[in-house]
Amino acid sequence: MDTQCFNITLLLILHCLCATATYMSSFKVLSPNSVNRTDLLCPSYCFEDLRNVHHCCVCTAIPEWHLSSNYLLLSLEYFKCDGSAKVIGDVDNSLPAILKHRDGYLQRYPSNLCDFTNIREIDLKGNKISTICIISCLSKSDTLDLSYNKIYQIYNDTFSLLTQLRILILTHNGLTKLDPFSVVGTSLSITLLDCSWNNMTELDASNFILENDFCEYKFNSNKITKIVNKGGFTLNPDKIYKGGLVELTGNLFYKSIDFEELGIKDIKTLGKLMSFGFLLSDAKFDCDCHMEPYLELAELIMNKIWRDYFNMSCWNPLEYRGLSIPYLVMHKKLDLFICNITEKCPRYCRYYHQQHKRTTGVNCTDANLEALPDYVPEVSNLTVLLKNTKIKTFESRNYLGNTTFIDMSNTGFSEVENDVFMQIHNGVNFLMEGHNLNDMPRGFQVLNPCIAQLGRTVIKCNCNHLWIKVLLHVKIKISNL
Ligand SMILES: *[C@@H]1O[C@H](CO)[C@@H](O)[C@H](O)[C@H]1NC(C)=O
Ligand SMILES: *[C@@H]1O[C@H](CO)[C@@H](O)[C@H](O)[C@H]1NC(C)=O
Ligand SMILES: *[C@@H]1O[C@H](CO)[C@@H](O)[C@H](O)[C@H]1NC(C)=O
Ligand SMILES: *[C@@H]1O[C@H](CO)[C@@H](O)[C@H](O)[C@H]1NC(C)=O
Ligand SMILES: *[C@@H]1O[C@H](CO)[C@@H](O)[C@H](O)[C@H]1NC(C)=O
Ligand SMILES: *[C@@H]1O[C@H](CO)[C@@H](O)[C@H](O)[C@H]1NC(C)=O
Ligand SMILES: *[C@@H]1O[C@H](CO)[C@@H](O)[C@H](O)[C@H]1NC(C)=O
Ligand SMILES: *[C@@H]1O[C@H](CO)[C@@H](O)[C@H](O)[C@H]1NC(C)=O
Repeated sequence: MDTQCFNITLLLILHCLCATATYMSSFKVLSPNSVNRTDLLCPSYCFEDLRNVHHCCVCTAIPEWHLSSNYLLLSLEYFKCDGSAKVIGDVDNSLPAILKHRDGYLQRYPSNLCDFTNIREIDLKGNKISTICIISCLSKSDTLDLSYNKIYQIYNDTFSLLTQLRILILTHNGLTKLDPFSVVGTSLSITLLDCSWNNMTELDASNFILENDFCEYKFNSNKITKIVNKGGFTLNPDKIYKGGLVELTGNLFYKSIDFEELGIKDIKTLGKLMSFGFLLSDAKFDCDCHMEPYLELAELIMNKIWRDYFNMSCWNPLEYRGLSIPYLVMHKKLDLFICNITEKCPRYCRYYHQQHKRTTGVNCTDANLEALPDYVPEVSNLTVLLKNTKIKTFESRNYLGNTTFIDMSNTGFSEVENDVFMQIHNGVNFLMEGHNLNDMPRGFQVLNPCIAQLGRTVIKCNCNHLWIKVLLHVKIKISNL
């Protein structure tokens, strides 16, 4: 009877060992480029989808000692009623250690924490910690859970020495500020950052654009209105930014990221962020010229850049409210994304920057104007719309030199000042149908008839008009001249 019992126990033990061995063999070692460590294991199912192996491993890796339960558990003992405590445990043990003390009264790190250099995981969820001093002694830490404490600010050196930190949980702290480069930096390689449910009002770009692969950075449910760049972060065109998921829902965003502020002048550089996913579905977007560059890029890679791309809509301007942004992109309506400018705008006209055409427009269409506006903004590549106005004379203006598009149609203008031809350049797109000219001013020979639409002009031909013949000879089809 006794022996039978023993046999069963032995069998059970054997069975357990076997199961552990099989379990362990379904993991493979992950050697991240960014950190010098070999203790991370990646589940073998990650290798089933070859395109996604790396990202899957980054998201699911487990330290080997954790998986095999080969670690020491440390505990805490309070020694004052002000929430001061000491770590209890074997200081000299070389096993990786985990310190876990949830829902306590701890107000600061335990005073002897640095004696335990083997600590890899700290779980102090639900305590009363308000300041975290620089804890370089914990340089081997892999996971830090400080959720549900009272930490209001993270400085750029708070975690900078924790080069192995992979998981950092700061949710529910009332956090108002993350200094630039405080969770991302050359030596940090956090793959899961949770700053959700805090009180942050802005987010510095330096804290989520990184070269290392990451799984997810969560900033959802804060009060973030905009992405800022106070740390002077710039994208390095020679580097590859692998990216991950940046969760930004439940905030108060009204602007997408201002890429120019990040030093991105060329839209192609933006491609470097393409593997990032930004979750922003409930943001109240300003559908204006600042958003347009993003969308131009998104046009090509629509479902890659925002994971729930199909659920974003405009909030401002009012007349676009509720319009689906992806719909506008797919239906090639990027021209709608403009910014009004109020400076130096002629009365009765609207002045705007239209990013998609890289042009600044002065729209005086239908205005009660009898002459060209005296001044318009001093910018290059102007579009001047004077259609249906009461302009009688096409007078010269300095800004004509910077104008690439003029619409003077249906004005009935009957005179053109000679200086005009000194100012406009030959590539100008000039619409003048519905004029009252009774002769075609010779100056128009500077125009490219393929671009300009000169409208119908009845002229009495004489030798002075030979230039028209030459002009027409050069160009193919001007049926309505
Ligand atoms: C990684 O660690 C090994 C051994 O500990 C060391 O020789 C090597 O220089 C380290 N590499 C980096 C990039 O830190
Ligand atoms: C950290 O912030 C301080 C100012 O708050 C600044 O002087 C210092 O250069 C920053 N360090 C890094 C590494 O960004
Ligand atoms: C967040 O800020 C609001 C005031 O802006 C304050 O009432 C609230 O208590 C703060 N939340 C936390 C968790 O500190
Ligand atoms: C779209 O957004 C709304 C509100 O933000 C959300 O309730 C809904 O589930 C989203 N739909 C999809 C398909 O993501
Ligand atoms: C620009 O101004 C017009 C006219 O005032 C207005 O209807 C429109 O909503 C404004 N657009 C933006 C993007 O502010
Ligand atoms: C100037 O504006 C026109 C639209 O009027 C646009 O087609 C062109 O690309 C712009 N040129 C430059 C250099 O931005
Ligand atoms: C210019 O203004 C007119 C009248 O307000 C409007 O119908 C037209 O769409 C505007 N054109 C552009 C390009 O904004
Ligand atoms: C023409 O555009 C340039 C900028 O490209 C600007 O400096 C200049 O003042 C503009 N000229 C006029 C007359 O608006």
